[in-house]
Amino acid sequence: MTKKQVINIVLLGPPGAGKGTQAVLLKKAYGLLHVSTGDMLREAIKEGSKFGKKIQAFMDKGELVPDEVVTSSVIKRMAKPDAFSGVILDGYPRTRSQAESLDVSLVEEKRTLNMVIYLKTSEKVAIERLSGRRICPECGKNYHVTNIPPKTPNICDTCGVKLTQRVDDAPETVKNRLVVYENETKDLIAYYEEKNLLYQVNGDLSAGELFKDIAVLFKSEGLIDDNSDE
Ligand code: AP5
Repeated sequence: MTKKQVINIVLLGPPGAGKGTQAVLLKKAYGLLHVSTGDMLREAIKEGSKFGKKIQAFMDKGELVPDEVVTSSVIKRMAKPDAFSGVILDGYPRTRSQAESLDVSLVEEKRTLNMVIYLKTSEKVAIERLSGRRICPECGKNYHVTNIPPKTPNICDTCGVKLTQRVDDAPETVKNRLVVYENETKDLIAYYEEKNLLYQVNGDLSAGELFKDIAVLFKSEGLIDDNSDE
């Protein structure tokens, strides 16, 4: 599983598609930087600033945070040296305007987006995953009560602390997040299809199967070594 070149990818899919889960696996396997806009925004909220409170009002309702806030954070993060050997964008772009801003920034930085991986996931599976998601408040590790359970129920394997649920995983907020996805983000599938960058995988598969399918895509595009086991 040797990386042959710089790999910059976008993971696209509805809430609960498993974008964050795949990003963690891909980061580990290929040494890529994981840039999650959801995590960046949650960090800002934790800091308790006025800015954080403004963001929280959008996120708690399952609405998108204004484009300019998210775009400037992502562009700044991508300009740091640890982003130059490859980036996984998880949760960004989410609107056409964000995708256009990303394109401008990539051209300016003379960087290439290699692929946009669309985790096509059924609504039933997405809802089931979000209702069972549990997070470690210390290290941020992501579990699922039945699909990816901790060794001891409701306790983080690494930190030994009680797991929590994300505020926006409440059923009413999940419903709104799925509507927002349909209205705002689905348009991006066509956007990247037109650019010949869209690669679809079956998001309903298990995390391990999905990871293997993404590795097959990487191989087919010459991004990783053909003799790789991944
Ligand atoms: P964000 O944190 O990005 O949430 P999301 O896109 O809704 O996606 P999730 O994190 O809920 O799901 P995921 O696809 O990563 O699934 P996961 O791997 O965790 O955004 C939150 C909010 O921030 C937004 O609503 C918005 O307000 C704001 N925001 C973020 N980015 C923005 C942007 N660009 N512009 C504007 N606003 C923005 O998996 C889910 C569960 O399933 C877990 O329990 C996991 O263990 C389990 N699981 C994962 N994969 C599998 C599998 N293959 N099989 C079985 N179980 C699995």
